[in-house]
Amino acid sequence: MVPVVLLHGFPFDGSMWRDQAAFLRSPEGGGHAVFTPDLPGFGPEPQETAFSPEDATIEAFAGSVHRLIASIGGRAVVGGFSMGGYILLALLRQFPGDVAAAIFLDTRPDADSAEARANRLASIEDVSKNGSAAFVESMLPRLLGPSAQPAAKDRTRKIMQRQSVPAIIAAQRAMSIRRDQGDLLSQIPVPVQIIVGAQDAITPPSVALAMQSRIPHAMLVQIAGAGHMSPIEQPAAVNTALRSFLALVKA
Ligand code: MLT
Repeated sequence: MVPVVLLHGFPFDGSMWRDQAAFLRSPEGGGHAVFTPDLPGFGPEPQETAFSPEDATIEAFAGSVHRLIASIGGRAVVGGFSMGGYILLALLRQFPGDVAAAIFLDTRPDADSAEARANRLASIEDVSKNGSAAFVESMLPRLLGPSAQPAAKDRTRKIMQRQSVPAIIAAQRAMSIRRDQGDLLSQIPVPVQIIVGAQDAITPPSVALAMQSRIPHAMLVQIAGAGHMSPIEQPAAVNTALRSFLALVKA
């Protein structure tokens, strides 16, 4: 059975996949081998230090995922949430043989606009000087949909609060200079599923639909009652969508 690797978003860690990992490992979820790595610098006790700002690129994050996949058999179904989706696209470009099937959750293929890049650079300045507390609070409202439960909000906040300043700076830097991956979409040779929260304000359904239209064989699932944090806001619906796709691709 091909393992499943789920890549977290920013500024989160592998624990954002708690509910998906537990379900997909269970007999009901298909009994999959599921890996939810903390990307370099992220997590409660990072196994690897954050990239320095000079070395921080989405390709460098993809390199760390490539090393993980090499250590678990050389091929995996890979799911990427938001920043994890940017990394999955880089992985597909650099190491296409690593990916047996691709799942894009609440993400986009394009590079930052000039405004988004300027905001990231300003946030790097702010977080370097003042720490991450205010930055986390400023991000939170846009991450969650209007019907998010308080428990989902608390969990999202807690995961963000424990990420280190160097990891936040490295990821912001990497995302700010990432390339547009749009040209890759029509060439993805493996099965693709796209999942998006119906109320996602950061990577809205319109972006997911546009992405689907450029990947001829992609399946799209909209998650009702979820914003950007669909795996945390509506875990049961995301779990069901993942299980169906994994059964279809016989992972
Ligand atoms: C994420 O959830 O990973 C972020 O919203 C991605 C980003 O900042 O572009």
